[in-house]
Amino acid sequence: MRTAMRTQVGIVGAGPAGLVLAHLLQRRGIESVVLENRSRDYVEKRVRAGVLEYGTVQLLTETGVGDRLRREGLVHTGVELRFDGQGHRIPFDELTGGRSITVYGQQEVVKDLIRARLEAGAPLLFGVADVSLHGVDSPTPSIRFRADGQDQELQCDVIAGCDGFHGVSRDSVPAGVLTGYERAYPFAWLGILAKAPPSSEELIYTYHERGFALHSMRSPQVTRLYLQCDPDDELAAWPDERIWDELHARLATRDGFTLTEGPVLEKGITGMRSVVLEPMQYGRLFLAGDAAHIVPATGAKGLNLAVADVWVLARGLAEFYRTGSAAELDRYSATCLRRIWRGQHFSWWMTSMLHRFRGDDEFGHRLQLSQLAYVTSSRAAATTLAENYVGLPLG
Ligand code: FAD
Ligand code: DHB
Repeated sequence: MRTAMRTQVGIVGAGPAGLVLAHLLQRRGIESVVLENRSRDYVEKRVRAGVLEYGTVQLLTETGVGDRLRREGLVHTGVELRFDGQGHRIPFDELTGGRSITVYGQQEVVKDLIRARLEAGAPLLFGVADVSLHGVDSPTPSIRFRADGQDQELQCDVIAGCDGFHGVSRDSVPAGVLTGYERAYPFAWLGILAKAPPSSEELIYTYHERGFALHSMRSPQVTRLYLQCDPDDELAAWPDERIWDELHARLATRDGFTLTEGPVLEKGITGMRSVVLEPMQYGRLFLAGDAAHIVPATGAKGLNLAVADVWVLARGLAEFYRTGSAAELDRYSATCLRRIWRGQHFSWWMTSMLHRFRGDDEFGHRLQLSQLAYVTSSRAAATTLAENYVGLPLG
């Protein structure tokens, strides 16, 4: 026996895409149910991205979930590019008419959205199992799942597949409908959170002969650091001492930069890939965020693209319920893909400029140095980086 429920929009996944979508729909009076297979504790502790574009911050603030973000988020008006032992600042505010980015952990955004949803008494189910999608090419799609030991079915008008890169939504689309465009990179990032005050007020993206390194932060007491590593590396090969030695070597400057160490609170390795699946709609199923595309982390675009997708989807759904017209929804994929491909290009460009490629490709190395010198000396080139980094306007 299955217990049946009904809603307007069934949302699979309580990551940034699913939670922001549920929030935007609720503000427009559209009902949704969010189904998440992990526990609340797990999703609130999952350490991932940290950079919010200007438009992402505006969206969260204007829709009433930005209070803590405004209080605790760290507003940055520039970043440093470091190479040849020297730092060069890209001033975002000056180059983009006053725009900035905000450093605020993805799990903090997730916590704020979960709290807002539960306080509003809106449905968000954690720890559901065996999620499967049915009838997605019909006007009455449904989601089957198991919760509290009970088989359940959620009948919907529309399903939003916001279940990330390893979710099930994408697999509900018949073979041959989606085309995947992909690029793999021959390296990965080893990321740590350290209980140490940041060693610089701003993010530092470093190109070094030993490989890329990134200095970021989460608060005045916690530093987030990343190192380029081999994609096959295991964490066991990276004891804390080796990580700090490598960070000191790569971040060193000619004028004696000092990196403050501290206890390592978290450690993880993330692969680097670019993937886009087209189109992002099949019948009444809409894919959003990592379920449809992933970017290498160097451009800090993954979370921001997920938010931009669901902003477009919420607008289309609002028109659908207000007027009965699916015209805006039918443009969902094409509208999102314009921004996604810009984000893909930017992420690929930053990744290619800042990582050390295997082998002794001296020609490639010199091209990278030339590009870095250009980006940090030409106002036109620096503006290209700045306007993409702070994010192009939504819509
Ligand atoms: P997700 O955050 O993946 O959310 C999907 C949700 O769906 C999850 O909660 C998942 O548990 C749930 N789910 C999955 N399967 C099911 C199912 N069958 N049923 C129900 N629920 C399901 N981006 C950056 O910009 N900078 C970074 O440093 C960075 N680091 C990253 C590190 C890692 C390890 C990963 C995986 C990604 C990282 N990203 C980073 C990318 C960024 O975090 C993502 O782009 C962002 O999380 C996308 O949000 P999303 O909601 O689309 O997907
Ligand atoms: C962070 C992550 C990124 O991918 C990036 O490009 C910049 C900062 C971070 O986690 O702080």
